[in-house]
Amino acid sequence: MNNGADILKRLILLILACILIYSCTRKGETAMNNQTDIISVIPLPDSSREINVVFYLENHTRICIKPEDRPFLEGMVKFLNGLVINTISARLEVSDVTGNDPQIILLLNNELDLGKEGYHLMIDKKQILIEGETEKGIFYGIQTLRQILPAEKSQSAIEISGVEIFDHPRFSWRGLHLDVSRHFMPVDFIKKYLDYMAMHKLNMFHWHLTDDQGWRIEIKKYPKLTKIGAWRNETLVGHFEDQPQQFDGNRYGGYYTQQEIREIVQYAGERCITIVPEIELPGHAQAAIAAYPELGVTGEPVEVRKIWGISPYIFNIEESSFEFIKNVLAEVTSLFPGEFVHIGGDEAVKDQWAESVRIQQKMKALGIRDEHGLQSWFIQRIDSFLASRGKRLIGWDEILEGGLAPNAAVMSWRGEEGGIQAAKAGHDVVMTPTEYCYFDYYQAENQNEPLAIGGFLPLAKVYGYNPVPASLNEEETSHILGVQANVWTEYMATPEQVEYMVFPRIAALSEIAWTSPERKSWPGFRQRIKKLAMLYKSEGINYSRTGLEN
Ligand code: ACM
Repeated sequence: MNNGADILKRLILLILACILIYSCTRKGETAMNNQTDIISVIPLPDSSREINVVFYLENHTRICIKPEDRPFLEGMVKFLNGLVINTISARLEVSDVTGNDPQIILLLNNELDLGKEGYHLMIDKKQILIEGETEKGIFYGIQTLRQILPAEKSQSAIEISGVEIFDHPRFSWRGLHLDVSRHFMPVDFIKKYLDYMAMHKLNMFHWHLTDDQGWRIEIKKYPKLTKIGAWRNETLVGHFEDQPQQFDGNRYGGYYTQQEIREIVQYAGERCITIVPEIELPGHAQAAIAAYPELGVTGEPVEVRKIWGISPYIFNIEESSFEFIKNVLAEVTSLFPGEFVHIGGDEAVKDQWAESVRIQQKMKALGIRDEHGLQSWFIQRIDSFLASRGKRLIGWDEILEGGLAPNAAVMSWRGEEGGIQAAKAGHDVVMTPTEYCYFDYYQAENQNEPLAIGGFLPLAKVYGYNPVPASLNEEETSHILGVQANVWTEYMATPEQVEYMVFPRIAALSEIAWTSPERKSWPGFRQRIKKLAMLYKSEGINYSRTGLEN
C-alpha cells in the first residue's frame, strides 16, 4: 500500500473514531437526562437548565403584573394565589411596581416565539418570572410551577431551586373524554375532572352527554329528553357477558341543567379547556327514542336501555327527526362556545333502516345505494347545519364510511386506520385508538382489580404511543390535531372509580400529547411520576398504584 493511501485510511479511521466517541457521549448525555431529569415535571418540558441559586417564597412575596396586562391576567393571579395558599398558607399581594422585595412576575410577551400555549419560566434569586404570549402560556407556566413546589403545605417560607424552562406543546388537541351516560357524574366531580386535566396541561374535554343508557343534557324545547330519557328503570350488575344477566332493581339517572352546563363551560374556560359536547347519532339513540318514540324507525315505545352493549335503536330519517336534531343542536351550540361538536356516528346498527319499507323507498328516491351511504347522507346534513352555526363536526371514524363532508374531522378509535385514511384525504384527525387510549381497559393483571370492560392497557403502553403514524408524510401529519384518551363508564359507577381508571394513565397521556417524542423517556417518566403521585395523594385522588412500584 502506498503512503498516500495509508494516510487517507488512517484519516478516515480517525474521523470514524471521533464520530463514534461523539455519538456515544451524546447518547450518554441523553441517558443521564433520562435518568435524572433536571426538573421533575409531567409533561416533560422542552428544555430546562439548573440555576444554582434559591428563591424564597414567603408571605411578603408580591405578584407583579404590568397595568396593561391586568385585565387579561386576573384569572391567572387567582390560580397563582390558590397555589401559594396551598403551599405557604398565604395570599400574596398584587402590585405593578418592581422593587427589591421577592416577586413573582406574570408577563404577556408576544415576542416569545413559543406559540399561543408556550411559556418561559425562570426562577432565580430575586424573582420567579412566568411569561407567555397569551394567558394560556402563563397558565401552563403556573401548572409547571405547581409541580416544582412541594406537594405538602408548609407554615413558613419555602426554598425553591433556581431553574429556567422553555416549553410549548406538541399537539393542539390534548383530550380526555368522559361518558356520563352509562354512569352520571355530579357537577362537582366534572369540575374536579377539569382540574385534573389542567394539572396535566390537557385542553380538550370531550363530554359524552347522550347514549342509549341515559340522556344527560337539558334541552328546553324537548323536556321529555330529561324527564324520561335521563332515567333507566334499573342497571345491569356484574359483567355484560355474565349469564344469566342480573339487575339491581334501582331506578337510576340524572342530568345537567343548562345553568349547570354554563357554569361548567365557564369553569373549563378559566382553565384553558375547551369542551367538545357529544350528541350521539344516528345510533346510540335509545334514550332519546324512549323519550320521543316517533324519532325511532318502528315508532314503538321502548325503555331507556339498562344493559351495556350496542342497541339496535336508530333515528329514522323523517324531516321531523332532522328538525328535532337541529333544534337540539341549536341549543347545544348556544351553550358550548368551542369550535367542534361531536356527533358520535359510531356503532350505528342499521338493521332497522334495512328492514323499513319507508326508509328503503326514501333511500331509492334519493339515489342512495346502501345504508352506509344513508348514514353518510344523514351526517352530511348535520354537518351543513353545524357549519351554518359556525361550528365544525367531529365524529368517530365510522363517519368515513360512505363519504365525509370536507370540513369534518375524525376521531380514530378502531385502531389508526381510519385516522390514516382521513388524514390522507385531507381531514383533521384526533388519534384515540382502543389499544393505547381506552382507559376503561384493565391497567393491571392483578386478580383483585375492580371489574372492567376487558382489554389490557398498562401505563407503559400508554406512554409508548406515538399519535403520528409512520406512514404519513409531512402534509398529512399536519392533519393530526392530537391525541385523546376515552373513559367509558359502564364499569365505573362512582367518581372514585373514574379516578382509579384515569390515574396515573392520565400522566402518560399528557406526556405523549405535550412532549416532543425525542424528549420522551420511560425511565425518566417512571422517576417523575413518583413525585407527581405525591401531589395526587395530597389532592386526595384515588389513583391506582400499578405502574408506580419500583
Ligand atoms: C366507541 O368506543 N364506540 C367510540
